[in-house]
Amino acid sequence: MASGKAHRIACIGAGNVGASAAQYCAEMELGEVILTDIVEGFPQGKALDLTQAGPIRGYGSVVKGTNDYADIAGADVCIVTAGLARKPGMTRLDLLQKNGEIISGICENIAKYAPDSVVIIVTNPLDVMAYVAFQKLGFPEQRVVGMAGCLDSARLRAFVAMELNVNMKNVDTMVLGSHGDDMVPLPQYTTVSGIPITKLMPQDRIDSLVERTRKGGGEIVALLKTGSAYYAPGASAARMAQAIVRDEKQLLPCSAHMTGQYGLNDVYIGAPVILGKDGVENILELELSDDERSALHNSAGEVRTGIDGLKELGVLS
Ligand code: LAC
Repeated sequence: MASGKAHRIACIGAGNVGASAAQYCAEMELGEVILTDIVEGFPQGKALDLTQAGPIRGYGSVVKGTNDYADIAGADVCIVTAGLARKPGMTRLDLLQKNGEIISGICENIAKYAPDSVVIIVTNPLDVMAYVAFQKLGFPEQRVVGMAGCLDSARLRAFVAMELNVNMKNVDTMVLGSHGDDMVPLPQYTTVSGIPITKLMPQDRIDSLVERTRKGGGEIVALLKTGSAYYAPGASAARMAQAIVRDEKQLLPCSAHMTGQYGLNDVYIGAPVILGKDGVENILELELSDDERSALHNSAGEVRTGIDGLKELGVLS
């Protein structure tokens, strides 16, 4: 990551998630925010709107909108949210192919214009798309990371706080695995001001919060009826960007390239990582119960199925 100058964060895709990420990055004054999209006028309009919110919200961040990838030049962090949401009649494989192609095209431009950036992938299916980006970018694996655990653990934190009527800021947790129904929330590593939740609520309540977390994205889709969550996903991506540009060495759950950790190889999956200026600076291996370990392997198996599907479709070689 470049240093000695103002940081630059490129948000690629100006839909709800990308625009929310841009908003949080601007509010936190992480650096100059470049919002890009293929739709003409769309990123420019959102960027202008976000700029005009600055004097009221008290931030001075420069926010620029563009349709030209050349404008992401020198970005320290690229947050990739571009892609399609699954539409009626579309199979999982259709979505995989479409988004795989979109991510591949974006990666060509990132490699060309922002070759030193750390890339945060948000597009779904997230862990598979992170793998696609890793393959296509040719960047060291540390510089390609998926956002998921931040979001999934924030959801569990919120649910625990709501259940116990305590401040969310007191709740800490860890969620491993892929982003989706197969994720692996870890109650044994979930605490309220240091107190394990196993001491604060009965097992059936824990099970129900874990289940709600697994289905967290779907719950919001069902409520919204059109579209999916974006405030928390955008905030999660911005949180990761913050850890990177400020070199915070934050321990956060993120989707990272496994090279033997947890007995997994050459797959992207959520694990606790240290996030700093070089991206994923370390992957921590937690002690897991047999059930948790097999759930993690099951989850990685799903990601592999997606990767293999893209190989069959010729999107990945
Ligand atoms: C979610 C979708 C967007 O979890 O992945 O909300």
